Amino acid sequence: MTRIRSVPALVGLSAAPMLALSLLAAPTCAAAAEPRSGAEVYELVCTTCHEAGVAGAPKRGDVKAWKPLIAEGQASLSRTAIKGIRGMPAKGGRPDLSDLEVRRAVAYLANASGAKWAEPKK
Ligand code: HEC
Repeated sequence: MTRIRSVPALVGLSAAPMLALSLLAAPTCAAAAEPRSGAEVYELVCTTCHEAGVAGAPKRGDVKAWKPLIAEGQASLSRTAIKGIRGMPAKGGRPDLSDLEVRRAVAYLANASGAKWAEPKK
């Protein structure tokens, strides 16, 4: 009798970690398949230099520094961020980012610094 009762207990024990694993794995897979938002890319990559102004990077929220850059226009500034310029590595040093993700990050960064650009959809 003791043996029969212990079977469901064992099943319960092994199912719990499996469920926890699948719950952890699901959001990670979705993030890799979908293009990330500008805010996500910023937090992941651009924050390293643009939050503190490393190597002369225009800081996020520094309206004065961003004004002349924003005046170049969204398309032009996005191209620059994809190609790189002086201390700014191409795609912020992350060639695995898609052009769309970089363009979204540029819009996020500019909008946090005085622009009113739409986040690119495609
Ligand atoms: C390794 C540090 C570093 C990282 C990471 C980085 N940047 Fe930069 N970024 C710079 C520096 C330095 C400049 C200033 C370049 C200059 O004008 O001399 C700059 C300038 C820029 C500019 C203005 C370009 C211009 O015309 O002067 C944009 C837009 C920009 N970065 C966007 C981004 C985005 C978006 C990301 C994240 C995907 C990012 N950066 C990640 C260092 C970085």
